[in-house]
Amino acid sequence: MTRTAKSALIQRKGPRVIRSLPALRRAVAQMRAKRETVALVPTMGALHAGHLALVRLARKRARRIIVSIFVNPTQFAPNEDFGSYPRTFATDLAALAELKVDAVWAPTAKTMYPDGFATRIAPEGPALAGMEDKFRPHFFGGVATVVAKLLLQIVPDIAVFGQKDYQQLKVVTALARDLDIPVKIVGAPTVRENDGLAMSSRNAYLSAEERATAPALHRALKDCAARLKSGRPIAEALAEGRAAIERAGFMVDYFEARHAETLAPIARLADGPVRLLVAAKLGRTRLIDNIPV
Ligand code: PAF
Repeated sequence: MTRTAKSALIQRKGPRVIRSLPALRRAVAQMRAKRETVALVPTMGALHAGHLALVRLARKRARRIIVSIFVNPTQFAPNEDFGSYPRTFATDLAALAELKVDAVWAPTAKTMYPDGFATRIAPEGPALAGMEDKFRPHFFGGVATVVAKLLLQIVPDIAVFGQKDYQQLKVVTALARDLDIPVKIVGAPTVRENDGLAMSSRNAYLSAEERATAPALHRALKDCAARLKSGRPIAEALAEGRAAIERAGFMVDYFEARHAETLAPIARLADGPVRLLVAAKLGRTRLIDNIPV
C-alpha cells in the first residue's frame, strides 16, 4: 500500500483507540523511537468546540496527539452527576478523526483504579484557595490523582488544559512542578458561544429558558472587570456582580477577585494581575467561568 493510501485509510478509521496500559506504553514508545514530540489532551469526553480548540493548540505544539477520554469517578461526590455525565464516545471519536488525533486513551475505571488501589493525592496551595474546593471538597483530590496517573502513564512533552477550569489549571500546574513530572502544562483560552456563555459539557443540562439566562454569568464578569478598571473598589464591584447574577436567577457559590497566579484574595487592583472567578447554579446546573481583568 502506498503511503498516501495508508494515511487515507488511517484518517477514515479515525484515531487508534487504546484501552490497556501495555498498549498505551507501546504506542508512546513507538512515537518516542521516532523522536516525535507528544501532546496529551485530558478530557472526560462529551467533546465540544472548547475541547477541539485544546486539540488544535496541542497540534501546533507537538507532532503526535493523544486525547484521553475518561469520566473519572473519583472527582465526583456521591450526590453529583457521575451517572448522568454525558457520554458520547462515537461522536467524540468522529470529531477527533477530523482533527487527525493519533490516539485516544480510553481506559476503563478498573484499569485506572484496579482492586486494591490505595493512593490518593491531596493537593494543597491552589487546591485550597476557597473556591471550587469549598463547594466540591472531594474534587481536586480526584483530579490531581487522575491527572498524575495520566501524566505518568504517557509522560507527554505538553499537556493542554482549558482556562475555563482556572483553579484546576493552577492545581495541575503545581502538581506537575511539585512531583517533578517533566511536562509543560499549557492553558488554552476559554471558547465561548456567540452570546458569551463558556462552552462546557454541562451546558447540555440547561433547559431552553436556562440557556437563555446563562450568558448573564459572563456579562456579570465583564461588567465587574470594567467597573474595577474604572476605579470601583473591589468589594463593591464584586457585590454588584453577585447581585446581577442573583437577579438573573442564579444561586451564587462564589464571585471572587483573585491573584491570577497564586489565587490569593486581593484587596486592590494594583496587587494583581487579577482574575475574576465565578461559580453559580442555574436550576440543577452548576456553571463556572472566569476572565482576566
Ligand atoms: O477538566 C476535565 O475534563 C477533568 O477534570 C480532567 C482534567 C480531564 C480530569 O478528569
